[in-house]
Amino acid sequence: MKTLQQIVDESERIVFFGGAGVSTESGIPDFRSEDGLYRQKYTVSPETMLSHDYFFSHTEEFFAFYREKMLPLWAEPNAAHKKIAELEKRGKLIAVVTQNIDGLHQKAGSKTVFELHGTVHKNTCVKCRKSYSAEEIAASKGIPRCSCGGLVKPDVVLYGEPLDSETVNGAVRAIASADTLIVAGTSLTVYPAAGFVSYFRGKYLVLINRDPTPLDGACDLVLHGKVGEILSEIQL
Ligand code: APR
Repeated sequence: MKTLQQIVDESERIVFFGGAGVSTESGIPDFRSEDGLYRQKYTVSPETMLSHDYFFSHTEEFFAFYREKMLPLWAEPNAAHKKIAELEKRGKLIAVVTQNIDGLHQKAGSKTVFELHGTVHKNTCVKCRKSYSAEEIAASKGIPRCSCGGLVKPDVVLYGEPLDSETVNGAVRAIASADTLIVAGTSLTVYPAAGFVSYFRGKYLVLINRDPTPLDGACDLVLHGKVGEILSEIQL
């Protein structure tokens, strides 16, 4: 912890790269832990249900799963989201790059957030491009339809879909210009997101994760524990 404090004190261009483990302390299960979403028993695997093809071939079933498991609109930012927003406010953190779609970083006050896998808070009609909120999707029944009659699709990157190129460019530029990269709450198993860490050229690579990851051996500092608890100990 002392080393993390020294690194944060010394850094002026921190980038925070996070995954589902950053939101578990807000009550949102992650994917691959014991109690993760992908460990729960379904006739069709969640990875299949969250795919591009399944969305268009089983739209009704997609939205039943999506409303039940992917719309935790009750969740509040936890200590990790708050400390990260504070670091940005103090001019020490230049960007958040997240694989999460829950919008909790912005809810905590973070301004520069690159959402590699999109967000539940934007939903677009495939026909006329009209936008709808997550609340409207949560309140709708069956397949959400636009006023024009078109199908409304969440702006979430489903398996088999490309990442948004502008988001990718922004995230890569931020990571490449960081002096410290803090990677947290991610198993680093999903590409291309997990590969973004390789753009880092700065001084300190820090990993904060409950379980070991493939990156542990390459880091300057590895803290195995809860990211909310660990970051809340940082004094600013
Ligand atoms: N503090 C620190 N680490 C935590 C915490 C916590 N409170 N809770 C969970 N973790 C760690 C787990 O040990 C695990 O290694 O976070 C990691 C979460 O890994 P995953 O569940 O695989 O989530 P993530 O890495 O974000 O998955 C990447 O997979 O299905 C896709 O699109 C989905 O964005 C997701 C991507």
